[in-house]
Amino acid sequence: MDNQAIQAKMAQLSASLHAHNHAYYVLNQPLISDYEFDILLKELETLESQYPAFTDPNSPTKRVGGDLTKKFETKKHRFPMLSLSNSYSEQDIIDWAERCQKALQEASEFVCELKYDGVAIGIQYQNGQMSLALTRGDGEQGEDVTTNVRTIRSVPLNLHGSFPLDFEIRGEIFMPQHNFDLLNQQREAQGESLFANPRNTAAGTLKLLDSKEVAKRGLDCYLYGVHGLNNQVSGHFEAVQEAKSWGFKVPDPAQRMIEKTNSIDGIMDFIHYWDTQRAHLPFDIDGVVLKVNSYAQQTELGLTAKSPRWAIAYKFKTQQVETLLEAVHYQVGRTGAITPVAYLMPVQLGGTTVKRASLHNADQIQKLDLCAGDTVQVEKGGEIIPKIVGVNLNLRRSENRIVFIDHCPECGSVLERQEGEAQHYCPNELGCRPQVTGKILHFISRKALNIDGLGEETVEMMYAKGLIKNSLDLYSLTFDQLLSMERMAEKSANNLLQSIAASKNIPFERVLFGLGIRFVGETVAKKLAQAFGTMEALQAATLEELLLVDEIGDKIAQSLLAYFSNPSQQDYITGLKAVGLQMEAAQKTLTSNLLEGKICVISGTFEAFSRDELKELIELNGGKLGSSVSAKTHFLIAGANMGPAKLQKATDLGVTLLSENDFIKMISQ
Ligand code: IVH
Repeated sequence: MDNQAIQAKMAQLSASLHAHNHAYYVLNQPLISDYEFDILLKELETLESQYPAFTDPNSPTKRVGGDLTKKFETKKHRFPMLSLSNSYSEQDIIDWAERCQKALQEASEFVCELKYDGVAIGIQYQNGQMSLALTRGDGEQGEDVTTNVRTIRSVPLNLHGSFPLDFEIRGEIFMPQHNFDLLNQQREAQGESLFANPRNTAAGTLKLLDSKEVAKRGLDCYLYGVHGLNNQVSGHFEAVQEAKSWGFKVPDPAQRMIEKTNSIDGIMDFIHYWDTQRAHLPFDIDGVVLKVNSYAQQTELGLTAKSPRWAIAYKFKTQQVETLLEAVHYQVGRTGAITPVAYLMPVQLGGTTVKRASLHNADQIQKLDLCAGDTVQVEKGGEIIPKIVGVNLNLRRSENRIVFIDHCPECGSVLERQEGEAQHYCPNELGCRPQVTGKILHFISRKALNIDGLGEETVEMMYAKGLIKNSLDLYSLTFDQLLSMERMAEKSANNLLQSIAASKNIPFERVLFGLGIRFVGETVAKKLAQAFGTMEALQAATLEELLLVDEIGDKIAQSLLAYFSNPSQQDYITGLKAVGLQMEAAQKTLTSNLLEGKICVISGTFEAFSRDELKELIELNGGKLGSSVSAKTHFLIAGANMGPAKLQKATDLGVTLLSENDFIKMISQ
């Protein structure tokens, strides 16, 4: 290929990847599989590494982050970034709307929208290309975080449609609740401190110097204002909806995320709707924003020193109530971590009855200086679990300080607390009931050994009856033993046994995760499996060898050493090996030829496997992965949320449909 052809090829790959990103992250309608996307991306990456001179700064490959920034440069905003006046009072909002109408002396339309709880961003585009992304800073100048903003998949790097040649779009960068939870789960598994809330985490993430890390954390962005349109559009609402056609993720009127109204009643209705419905949004909002729609009217109303007169924010009150602390109980988790839980006199808060609140750890109790019988202030923010934020000292009845326990409430062992750790632990890993049953439940969970048909109650019962005392015992359960359990019919007993047998095919990294070693989450287990290859090698690894592995720090390494040096755990692992669990990372040799010559297509989302894992399983069993359903397809492995069109096509072509479980059963024959 000559240079021109290479450049053309790169541009074509780039355009196609941009379009697929948009379909996936903005429209929620993927057109190709993740696998196909990765292939295109790899192809472009390869070309870019061979021909760096032809690489576009807005290439889709920049989504994964790369360059380390030393520090962010401060740059001046083209239009000052104002803030909003705000109020918690509905009357203030009514007064504001009436003031606007009086000043304008004509009817006006209002736009109601959500007040996203994140970080403001101004993004400039020139000739349809993202050119600069600035934080708010002091409103006059902000920090250049372009490299980080490029990793946010819902923000277009280049535009389509008839976009203005030079303009700026403003919006809010936030972290969806789900991504925040995942991040904290990972941090917990790796023994790192937890982030407090999605807002602060989004702000912190946007200022990371390593854009690769930013890319991993799953930020998102909604746009709420377009600047520099030069009267091409009459009002704010129209401009925002127009921006959608250039590729931006904007609030959807059909979901009432943005709404036009010409009455104060309409504004109030919007406020009341979101005051209750916000609990169901996948991200946090802290109020709603009201704006006068017409640009001409906005100009007429003008600005005060800091904020426009044509807009105001109504902020939701953080819901807070006072109630009586009845008792503090202590829960023991599967790793032995002790969590104090406050039992409260039941009280209504934000539409639900609150009876309990987490107290996190001993330090938290000390900070609150909690006494028996205190009247406490309970708050419910974005989180599901309410928290105690203070004590009403005027109503204090006793000076009996709540003292953190020193013995395990379940088994009586003396609790331990490591230097610098917030949490107390019960060290009786193998004899403390909730730790044992918790470990079994973790072992059988979807992401570990994926054993179906065993709930918490059944596990507790089996443990109480002495049928199982650890996960290894699951493998010697008999049909008759299962039938002796209440509510276990023949069919469920059979299914359970089948599911237990099928778990012997679960890859080594998930067996390792399933052991429930403290601080060894999914990612760490994967890294360890890759680095050591076999359980034997991992068991023999020294501190130095463990520390050489990417992402393994002292805390995790010490935890592994302690685990593997315990003779009971050694016996347990030997037992798991003996019943046939995978103790080696999958070799790339065929495990069967069950799928020989068969073309499988995967679609939808899966619970037990990632797409990559499914692909690997198909190939290990001799099959091939097809990219889309056609007459040549033999099996369509259908996950959840598969598109109806694909399903129809498969049915029309007579392709055999397999559910995730069908597939697992098939390959574990
Ligand atoms: S408009 C001049 N609209 O709230 C108007 N702001 O002080 C400027 N925010 O940090 C902002 N959602 O980032 C506007 N729908 C929305 C918003 C919104 C959240 C943030 C904004 C700023 C703060 C306003």
